[in-house]
Amino acid sequence: MPDVKVKLDKRSYNVRIGAGLLDKSCQFLSELDLHGKILIVSNKKVFGLYGKQLQANLKKHYRVQVYLIGDGEKYKSFGVLQRVLRFLIRHKFERGDTIAALGGGVVGDLAGFAAAVYLRGINFVQLPTTLLAQVDSSVGGKTAVNDSLGKNLIGAFYQPRLVIADTKTLRSLPAKELRCGLGEIVKYGLIAAPRLLTTLGQKADITADLLAQCCRIKSQIVSADERENNQRAILNFGHTIGHALETISHYRISHGEAVALGALGAAHISIMRGYLPRQTLDKLQKLFLKLGLPTHTGRRLNPEQIYRIMQSDKKVADSRLRMVLLQAIGKPIICPVEYAEIVRALAVI
Ligand SMILES: NC(=O)c1ccc[n+]([C@@H]2O[C@H](COP(=O)([O-])OP(=O)(O)OC[C@H]3O[C@@H](n4cnc5c(N)ncnc54)[C@H](O)[C@@H]3O)[C@@H](O)[C@H]2O)c1
Ligand SMILES: [Zn+2]
Repeated sequence: MPDVKVKLDKRSYNVRIGAGLLDKSCQFLSELDLHGKILIVSNKKVFGLYGKQLQANLKKHYRVQVYLIGDGEKYKSFGVLQRVLRFLIRHKFERGDTIAALGGGVVGDLAGFAAAVYLRGINFVQLPTTLLAQVDSSVGGKTAVNDSLGKNLIGAFYQPRLVIADTKTLRSLPAKELRCGLGEIVKYGLIAAPRLLTTLGQKADITADLLAQCCRIKSQIVSADERENNQRAILNFGHTIGHALETISHYRISHGEAVALGALGAAHISIMRGYLPRQTLDKLQKLFLKLGLPTHTGRRLNPEQIYRIMQSDKKVADSRLRMVLLQAIGKPIICPVEYAEIVRALAVI
C-alpha cells in the first residue's frame, strides 16, 4: 500500500492509498490516538454507497454520528456550514472529537472548514471518494465555502490528521468525474513528473501507484510552501485560463476539462516563447484524446472577455496578469503574460 507523508513538523500526516481502506479506518484512527466521538459529514449519494460500511467499521471503537449535506457545489455554502456547526454544538462535540469527511471535494472543503472553526479547531480526517479529491483536494489543507460573490473566498488552511483514499470507491464514479481528476493528474505530470505522462500515454490506468505519485508531488509542494506564498502557486498550472473557461461556459466545461484546456493554452504560450519544442502541443493533444480529455472548447472564444475574467482572478500581482508556464516539461515558472499571448493561446483551444 503506497503511503505518502505530508511533512509539516508536528502537523505532519499520512495519505493512505489503496483498495478497501475504508474497512481499516477504525484501525488507522486508533493508531493516531484519536478518541471520543466522530461526526461523518457526507452527502446522500456518497453515504448511500459507502456510508454504512464506514459507519459499521468506525463503530467498533467510536461513537459515530452522521450529518448529510446536499449534493453539489451550491451546498458548499455558509448556510450549510452553519447548520453543521449547530449540529456539533447541539450534540456537544468537544475539542478531542473528530470530523470525518466522506465524499468529494465539496464535502471535504466544507467539513474541513467546519473542523477548522468549531471550538477553534477539532480533529479532521479526509476520506476522499472522487479522483479529484484523492489526488488533489484532500491533501494540503485548503478548506473553504463559497459565497454568491465568489468561489472559495472564505476558508482556512487546516490540515487533516489523516487522509484515507480507498481506491475501490472510484469504481462507482461517473466518467465525467473521472475526467475531472484526470485533468489534475495531467497537470502534475506537466509541472513535476514527465514520466507520469509517459506512463499515462502507454496505459491510461488509474492505479494506487499513480495516485500516490500525484499526492507525493502535492505533498512536497505543500510542505515547502503551505500557505501559498510562492511555490504552491505552481499547482495553479492550467487554472488561470481554466477558471475563465469554466466561468464563460457557466460550468458546462467541467473543472478538469477546463484545467486540461488551460494546460494546453499555457503550453502553447511556453512554445511561443521558445521554452518548449513545437511538437509538445501535438503530443499533448494526442495524450488528452487518449484520456478522453478535450483538446478544443468547441466554441468561439472572445479573448477580451476571457482576459477580463483572468485579470479578476487571484493570481494578478501589481495589476499584471501572471501565469504558470513551462520552461520544460516538469519545470514550471511563474511569469507575467501579455494580452497578445493569451489571444494566441486561445486560438489553439
Ligand atoms: N481544497 C482543495 O485544495 C481543493 C482543490 C481542488 C478542488 N477543490 C474543490 O473541490 C470541489 C470539487 O470536488 P469534486 O470534483 O470531488 O466534486 P464533488 O465533491 O461535487 O463530487 C462530484 C460528484 O461525484 C459524486 N461522488 C463522489 N464520490 C463518488 C463516488 N465514489 N461514486 C459516485 N459518485 C460520487 C458527488 O456526490 C458529486 O455528485 C470544488 O468545490 C473545488 O473548489 C478543493
Ligand atoms: Zn483544480
